[in-house]
Amino acid sequence: MHKNPSKKYRPFPPVALPDRQWPSRVLTRAPIWCSVDLRDGNQALAVPMNVSQKLELFQTLVKTGFKEIEVGFPSASNTEFTFNRRLIEEHRAPDDVWLQVLVQSREDLIERTFESLVGAKKAIIHLYNSTSPAQRRVVFGMSKNEIIQVAVHGAEWIKERLPRLKGTEVMLQYSPESFSATEVEFAKEISEAVLDVWQPTPRQKMILNLPDTVEVAMPNVYADQIEWICRNIKHRDSLIVSLHTHNDRCTGTAATELGLLAGADRVEGTLFGNGERTGNLDIVAVALNLFMQGIDPNLDFTDLGSIIEVYERCTGMTIPPRQPYAGELVFTAFSGSHQDAIRKGLNEWKSGARAYWDVPYLTLDPNDIGREYREVIRVNSQSGKGGVAYLLESEFGIELPKEMQREFGPIANDAVDKLGREVSGAELKAMFWREYIERTEPWQLQGFETESKNGVVKCRARLLQDGKLVEFSGEGNGPLAALVHGFGNVGVPRFEIANYSEHALSAGEEATAIAYIQIKQGDGRTRWGAGVDTNIELASVRAVLSALNRS
Ligand code: KIV
Ligand code: ZN
Repeated sequence: MHKNPSKKYRPFPPVALPDRQWPSRVLTRAPIWCSVDLRDGNQALAVPMNVSQKLELFQTLVKTGFKEIEVGFPSASNTEFTFNRRLIEEHRAPDDVWLQVLVQSREDLIERTFESLVGAKKAIIHLYNSTSPAQRRVVFGMSKNEIIQVAVHGAEWIKERLPRLKGTEVMLQYSPESFSATEVEFAKEISEAVLDVWQPTPRQKMILNLPDTVEVAMPNVYADQIEWICRNIKHRDSLIVSLHTHNDRCTGTAATELGLLAGADRVEGTLFGNGERTGNLDIVAVALNLFMQGIDPNLDFTDLGSIIEVYERCTGMTIPPRQPYAGELVFTAFSGSHQDAIRKGLNEWKSGARAYWDVPYLTLDPNDIGREYREVIRVNSQSGKGGVAYLLESEFGIELPKEMQREFGPIANDAVDKLGREVSGAELKAMFWREYIERTEPWQLQGFETESKNGVVKCRARLLQDGKLVEFSGEGNGPLAALVHGFGNVGVPRFEIANYSEHALSAGEEATAIAYIQIKQGDGRTRWGAGVDTNIELASVRAVLSALNRS
């Protein structure tokens, strides 16, 4: 990289707009949307879509609710021309959908564009020429006046031909391409020159599209440029001001949202932001950003999955896993603390306790767009006890008591740390089994019987202590109390049962019940144990032995 960037690059000059209004506005409704997937998106594909792919994507755009679709550049190639003709001749566009076509300011290209539109119900003819200082100097070698003449001639050639499109409702659109890199005063001047030719009225408006062709500044600068134009251009009430942002600085979405605050009425973009270089604006993101603020976006992403499927198949593009809303991992939580918070939030939502969605870490309900919340539970040395417990419970139905989680969590983390990798659920269960269930030293169960009389339970235990048979009896108000009493009779240091719980294990497990017992020893120290058996009483005896064996 250049050692001193200030010698090579310059900051973008700010717009003089000290009383800018957009920062204190809020969005309250959706803009008019125009999809440019089939033109801007398509021209940026390594292998552009063929006619049948374009037709399929067109149908998906219509189904999603787009009422304005830039279908191509009909004068640019036969494929583009044929596609437009097929849409019109096969009546593929519903009556309320505008077919938008792009054209440069050249008479032959305008002529061909008009031929492509004959018979259309509704058409937007989109004229553009580039206006920034770099484009004027490097590409065209023209003065400002000459560049204005290019736009005016284009506007006139289009106007002259309008009577040819009898039966077609036509709307006209002009883009000073590279608007965001153009001096606002010049952008106004050239746009007004086009306006003078087309003479829009409040009843017959024209679209003035102000492209962020290449993002060259922060999104607040684009917003200033839009507000400046909206406030200074003549006949604002006869214009539909439109935004068309690209994403070179990764702020195309922000630029569009701030541009809407600044007074724009319409937004051009593509599904998932496909387009030149870093892409066009991702319309799905802006629409769902509105949706999650309670604003109807007038686009339907109820089944986002099938839109993704058509998009990927037709364009050959893939959606990155972390793409907002659409990415595969967007509604997947990996972190234990996130999972815990989301589970609690979802439970609160399901309980009906709250009127508005307010679930931690989920900006919207994934079900609203046909997605599902997923948890990936992987245990590594950084995982919390919650992750360990959740994995045991969700995969094996082992419901560790909360306090036992505090004991086993660090044990599992240590073991995983030594392995130096993540472990699966089965490996975690094996650790649990080794730590609690499979310990047989010093105590191992040989037999345990009880009888109960007048509320007193007597037990008879046969155990191995370091391989030697030990038999004892004891009594108490239950089998466990009797066992504890019996241990006292053979000189085992005093202990008591501090916590107890049990539950059935799911079908298919090797045992039907599991018991968890915490013992408290004379010195105040506590230990957990666990036992499994087909007999719940024996499961709890085994849990006591497990706790003693761990002491
Ligand atoms: O990015 C751009 O400026 C364009 C224009 C043709 C509108 O795509
Ligand atoms: Zn573009």
